[in-house]
Amino acid sequence: MTEVIQERYKLLRKMLEYEEQMNENERSIGWRWDNIGVYPATIHKLLIDGLVRVSFKSRSSTNYMLTEEGRAVAEADIPGVAQPAPIEVPVIDAAQIFSDIVGYDDIKELLRESLQLDKPIHVLLYGPPSLAKSMFLWDIERAFGDLSLPLLGSATSHAGLWDLIAERKPRVILVDEIEKMALVDMAGLLSIMQTGRIIRAKVGRKLDEKVNAWVIGAANRIHKLPAELISRFSVHQLAEYAAKEFRDVVTSVLTAHEDTDQDTAHEIAMRLVGRTHDVRDAVRVARLAKRVGVKRSIELLLS
Ligand SMILES: Nc1ncnc2c1ncn2[C@@H]1O[C@H](COP(=O)(O)OP(=O)(O)OP(=O)(O)O)[C@@H](O)[C@H]1O
Ligand SMILES: [Mg+2]
Repeated sequence: MTEVIQERYKLLRKMLEYEEQMNENERSIGWRWDNIGVYPATIHKLLIDGLVRVSFKSRSSTNYMLTEEGRAVAEADIPGVAQPAPIEVPVIDAAQIFSDIVGYDDIKELLRESLQLDKPIHVLLYGPPSLAKSMFLWDIERAFGDLSLPLLGSATSHAGLWDLIAERKPRVILVDEIEKMALVDMAGLLSIMQTGRIIRAKVGRKLDEKVNAWVIGAANRIHKLPAELISRFSVHQLAEYAAKEFRDVVTSVLTAHEDTDQDTAHEIAMRLVGRTHDVRDAVRVARLAKRVGVKRSIELLLS
């Protein structure tokens, strides 16, 4: 570590220690340079770097507090580790990444482009079942490999999660069924989205590490998600397919994955318009149709 970084770390440490012993009232005003014993010119440099902020200013004095960033650096176990992890920008094969998903050109472009930025834009997709929300997450997982961490909201509450994130430092965190995530995990996610900090409790003390992660979430409903979490996402509602979209998706899914010939796939798609919006119904119909024909399959399954 260079001397400059070391010096800076010591200063931030001093400020942190001073802040730790302030009471709430004092904290709302902040400290002056002479409380800490650091010259204003030096504080000014930290201010420019976003490590310290002005918390109060009057004609006679200026007061300061550490920013989240400044705190994270000061709290790091080893000076310097609280810096964001170096960014690894994967090359996304634009033609390939979402090629199995029919339609959604704008969402594809949004995800493709924002995943290649050097600072995150978090994206949340929500809407009724069978609209390819999970497919988007799977495709990102496939493209990012080990740089992605897929999570299922209903299964995330285990103590090791944040340790895992601190260790793996994923570039993308994919949270399916985010509305089912435990509140405590949502709070952890919020901290990552807000400041990149991973909050962990370990033998009675807090360890803070940083991660530069994109969060991509999917949900059926979002009305129960905390407003502050929603606010950190670019939120996109997917609406049920209109007739033409439904026909296109069904035909494509049945021919690509259900071993159904083009004509039969088309017939199933046509017959189901107006009866269901759910592509999964079409998949069931196609499977059963192999034994009983399309008409009978629809009668058995959907009446
Ligand atoms: N636009 C699409 N392109 C290709 N396949 C699609 C599309 N929409 C739906 N499907 C089909 O629907 C199935 C369900 O998609 P997916 O599991 O991604 O839905 P979802 O939106 O996550 O639904 P849920 O809310 O129930 O989790 C897929 O396996 C796929 O066969
Ligand atoms: Mg899903």
